[in-house]
Amino acid sequence: MREQIKKIDPKLIPTRTLNTGAKIPAIGLGTFGSDSIPHEKVAEAVKNAIYGGYRHIDCAAVYLNEPQIGQAIKEVIEEGIVTREELWITSKLWNDQHDNVEASCLKTLKDLQLDYLDLYLVHWPFRNYHAPNCDGDARNPDSKPFDIEDFVETWSEMELLVKKGYVRNIGTSNVTKAKMEAILERVNTIPAVNEMELHPCFQQTELFEFLVKSNIQPIGFSPIGSPNRPERDKTSTDAIDIEDPIVQKIAKRLGVHPVTVCLKWAMQRGQVPIPFSVNPRNYMGNLEASISEPITDEEMEELKSSDKNSRLIKGQVFLWEEANSWEDLWDLNGTITK
Ligand SMILES: NC(=O)c1ccc[n+]([C@@H]2O[C@H](COP(=O)([O-])OP(=O)(O)OC[C@H]3O[C@@H](n4cnc5c(N)ncnc54)[C@H](OP(=O)(O)O)[C@@H]3O)[C@@H](O)[C@H]2O)c1
Repeated sequence: MREQIKKIDPKLIPTRTLNTGAKIPAIGLGTFGSDSIPHEKVAEAVKNAIYGGYRHIDCAAVYLNEPQIGQAIKEVIEEGIVTREELWITSKLWNDQHDNVEASCLKTLKDLQLDYLDLYLVHWPFRNYHAPNCDGDARNPDSKPFDIEDFVETWSEMELLVKKGYVRNIGTSNVTKAKMEAILERVNTIPAVNEMELHPCFQQTELFEFLVKSNIQPIGFSPIGSPNRPERDKTSTDAIDIEDPIVQKIAKRLGVHPVTVCLKWAMQRGQVPIPFSVNPRNYMGNLEASISEPITDEEMEELKSSDKNSRLIKGQVFLWEEANSWEDLWDLNGTITK
């Protein structure tokens, strides 16, 4: 496998500075195998991607592959390919563990075979969870709308993780503008990042600009438009980023795959994309996108019109009983939906 990999010097990969002063590599490797890719295959990709120059890996307990990824990380460190300090490892607290923060973090550290995480995120801002591999109609009767008191309680446990040295930075994920406003009014530690869905056909401009203004780094998930996302997250009206005519036009000019344009747009706009891949040609091509010829300012401007407000990861499995539809999770009218 390694003979297929054309290494990229990690020193060339740009970084972004978080509100804590920490520097996060401007692109990372996703590790969610959409409940379908074997954990060993994802772990092998992590190992070879680090060999190829990746330094930032986006993990989560709910992806159920942290033990395999931990082994991969241990092996590249033992091989002398990288040191722990050179890596940026993110993980996430799953929704059913909001009242069990320290134990969950310690479990992730044990699985990943690490002494500390660079970044630990609250995966979703509520305690609603679903069974792995569930279908789109699955509903958990215990699900409730977002509750700021619950969130603040969980967040204060996240802050303790930093004090105890288990975690260097903490952040949120899937938080809307309305929820972030409520959170910022109440917490001592401003989230360092908010991980959220971002791709040319789903730009979330209002939230993105609010985060940048609040000194919270956006991390963009599904940056390619998640073509292999779980079936429960697919609908017939979803936009396909790599088929967008502006994305395709720019790809043609640069002589690159449309995926490269999606990633360049992300990095030049200022978010940190975390594309997933288990294919060496693809994940190394994605890393290369961080150092190859940029998109012009005019093209960046033109790409604004590729936004079709097409959310792919709708989260309907997290809905509570009285909720009407998945839109209720996303506070579309600017206030927190109860
Ligand atoms: N915080 C959250 O709630 C949340 C939610 C969703 C995702 N995430 C994170 O974000 C990561 C990325 O999102 P995602 O996995 O949904 O979608 P994505 O990165 O947009 O798309 C991944 C898919 O694109 C394909 N691909 C990757 N590079 C390619 C290339 N250069 N050319 C052609 N195809 C390519 C991959 O197939 P191959 O393997 O064949 O290359 C893979 O199936 C996840 O893995 C996870 O770490 C976080």
